[in-house]
Amino acid sequence: MRKKIVAGNWKMNTLPAEGVELAKGVVAQRGEVCECVNFIVCPPFTHLAQVAEVLKGSTVELGAQNCAAEAKGAYTGEVAASMIAALGCKYVILGHSERRQYYGETSETLNKKMEQVYANGLTPIYCVGENLDEREAGNHFAVCKQQIEEVVFNLTEEQFKNLVIAYEPVWAIGTGKTATAEQAQEIHAYIREVLSSKFGAAAEECPILYGGSCKPSNAAEIFAKEDVDGGLIGGAALKAEDFIAIGKGFMA
Ligand code: 13P
Repeated sequence: MRKKIVAGNWKMNTLPAEGVELAKGVVAQRGEVCECVNFIVCPPFTHLAQVAEVLKGSTVELGAQNCAAEAKGAYTGEVAASMIAALGCKYVILGHSERRQYYGETSETLNKKMEQVYANGLTPIYCVGENLDEREAGNHFAVCKQQIEEVVFNLTEEQFKNLVIAYEPVWAIGTGKTATAEQAQEIHAYIREVLSSKFGAAAEECPILYGGSCKPSNAAEIFAKEDVDGGLIGGAALKAEDFIAIGKGFMA
């Protein structure tokens, strides 16, 4: 049985006090959903420590949205994976399309970040996904394959066992436009096939999350698909009630 995960990517939203309130809400309502669903929140760096305090004693886990490609040193403005781990984070989102698009993240950088994440005992949530032009040209399979080959294929078998993938079609992020459950299943199954070509049966255990305008009203249908193991949630993760309601999608 693969792990079921609902992860909230808060992006650059909430001030520390708001983040604390949001995390409290998630902790308070978490009991409404089966323990079999793993909830993760990924606040901005500035309030990771405060949110970690709120999550203490709960089963809600903490993640960061990014980390530096280097271990430490003269890299002004960067945050090392070791610092994130020291705050109690278990996960780091890597390769989000917003980072690829606005901050020029390449596979080369992401390989270095992956190394840092594993060196510090963290689990990467590695994002892949095509933009609208690529989807319309029918290149979405090739794009995802390349994003996986260039980064995930460099992992050891041991590291691969500790990886979460998020498929996030860029055209569905923050647009209100969701991939259909069928579109999600089709590409998730394909991603799993690509993973199994390298890692064999271990690919069956790798959680693949869907991200892109996932909300309470569509989560159940998407999560019902065989190769969809949960969601990476943006906008709807900013309201505890909606975030938890998405988790209920597994129980529908
Ligand atoms: P939205 O849920 O706001 O579309 O964002 C998805 C996302 O990018 C999560 O990482």
